[in-house]
Amino acid sequence: MKIIIGNIKMNIVSQIERENYFKGMENCLAGKNFKNIKVVLCPPLIHLESFKNRIKNEAVFFGAQNIHEEEMGRFTGEISAPMVKNFGGDYAIIGHSERRKYFSEDNGLVNEKVKMALKNNLIPVICIGETEEERANGQIKSVITNQLLESLDGIADKKISQLIITYEPVWAIGSGRVPTSDEIMEIRILMQKILTDKFNLSLDEMPQIIYGGSVEFKNIKEVCLESGMSGVLVGGESLHPMDFIKMGEVLENN
Ligand code: 13P
Repeated sequence: MKIIIGNIKMNIVSQIERENYFKGMENCLAGKNFKNIKVVLCPPLIHLESFKNRIKNEAVFFGAQNIHEEEMGRFTGEISAPMVKNFGGDYAIIGHSERRKYFSEDNGLVNEKVKMALKNNLIPVICIGETEEERANGQIKSVITNQLLESLDGIADKKISQLIITYEPVWAIGSGRVPTSDEIMEIRILMQKILTDKFNLSLDEMPQIIYGGSVEFKNIKEVCLESGMSGVLVGGESLHPMDFIKMGEVLENN
């Protein structure tokens, strides 16, 4: 089962825009009965409940773009994992590079959030990836290894299969540039090795490993299928229901 996750980021600013989005999704999903994919939409949380109520398809699920690391308390402006769960979410993107860059999230905090998501039955979609500079300095493997190990520290072996790990190179986000399918495959193999070395996993307990960063219809075969990934995390293109669902169809049929 492959997965296509839409990270809508800080978009859909009005009721009119939201209504247009719903109409677009409704048209694209009409009569669709996906068997081989899950579609996950992660809107800004102000829209979560209406997404859940308006987009009805057995293959479509919802999630948050972030959660707070504590379950409850005085944290003005924050959203907790139980809130996401109770208002229709089943997934939470954690450690997105924009959160790391603009909100100073480090691997330790990502680790706390992953544990909080799991505790509340949210599937964590953990983002891992190197910057342009780290790539230029030949640090890809060490960066990925550190991010992965520190993000998963202390998580029980039996929980690992519930995670989704995203390889999302920072330089690929919104740039129109993507790694080659061989480069993505190499990272997938590296991640699988790190996971089997660290955790006691059988092959069918391997978490899904997906790709994110400038995913478009024209490159989805290369970045997802040829590289052997289990799905994609989509930013910009998730704002366009037709293009987004067309990508889902490629995964459904291949
Ligand atoms: P783009 O698909 O717009 O490059 O964004 C990727 C992303 O950040 C998804 O989390």
